[in-house]
Amino acid sequence: MNPAIDWKNIGFEYVDTGSHIRADCSDGRWSAPKLVTGNQLSLHIASTCLHYGQACFEGVKVFRQADGTAACFRAETHAGRLANTAQRLCMTPPPTALFVEAVTTLVRANKDFIPPYGTGASFYVRPLLLGTSPFIGVHESHDYIFLVMGMPVGPYYKNGLIPVKGLVQEQYDRAAPNGVGHVKAAGNYAAGMLGDKEARARGFDVSLYLDSATHTCIDEFTTSNFFGITRDRRYVTPDSKSILPSVTNNCLQQIARDMGYTVERRPVRWDELGNFSEIGACGTAAVITPVHSLTRGSETLTFGDAKTPGPVLSSLYQEIQSIQYGRKPDRYGWIQRLDA
Ligand code: COI
Repeated sequence: MNPAIDWKNIGFEYVDTGSHIRADCSDGRWSAPKLVTGNQLSLHIASTCLHYGQACFEGVKVFRQADGTAACFRAETHAGRLANTAQRLCMTPPPTALFVEAVTTLVRANKDFIPPYGTGASFYVRPLLLGTSPFIGVHESHDYIFLVMGMPVGPYYKNGLIPVKGLVQEQYDRAAPNGVGHVKAAGNYAAGMLGDKEARARGFDVSLYLDSATHTCIDEFTTSNFFGITRDRRYVTPDSKSILPSVTNNCLQQIARDMGYTVERRPVRWDELGNFSEIGACGTAAVITPVHSLTRGSETLTFGDAKTPGPVLSSLYQEIQSIQYGRKPDRYGWIQRLDA
């Protein structure tokens, strides 16, 4: 364990652990992943990732368990999602086995950076795929680099499970209906930055995007999926061609079903939000962020208490974290123990 880190007070910030993993692909053939010292990368200035956005990533978490071992959460699911993203962006993804080996090797090499059990922090692994062939015409790369870095992180929003204020973005769209909103393209996050910056300047913590074709249904927050709990015990989350299939949302749906909620994945209209008692944002980084209010133009809807999370979101959070930290049996097969 790294004694220099104040584990209880770390946020979601970059921490240099001194090493990362790299594998290279040329004309469809991947090299074995290798541990590399340092954090600098040399790229051709005409690389397709720099000019034409052939860049995508994943986020995977590793948790120090109650029994002292380390466990990775659904690495193979994240490998599959990276492969879907790569397919849409015309990139060559690393095979699942390579992805998992790279994550495992990184975690073992950085085991002193895995936050101790009981701190509420985790080790966030960031796999990154880049197209690196030098092309000036718009064309898919022949060469790729797969990098995996990682660092200890605390809550994505500094107050953890404290409700936040959301602004509905009316002026900007995040993704087009048949575009790339359903994959983890790096550029999707740049598309949300201006709206987020303007929202923060107005005192809002998160931005919510509506479907770009009609602005009548909810898509997702800039960095996480939307879900809500209705007064009649339904867990409702949008079905849209433009949102990322969140691994956390998938877990929460399973947990909610097992808690006796009806799970509905369907278009969610803005004008039905009055039926919801709790609203949340969910994703690997944030796990669950309760959303207390949503402002759209001059209208503000509120959900529950401004200072404390609602009872259903609290139970869902406790349940998923109990599985992640090994306090409860993993009956879904989501965690993989690592020798780290
Ligand atoms: C994640 O939840 O892993 C995300 O991808 C959000 C991230 C952009 C911070």
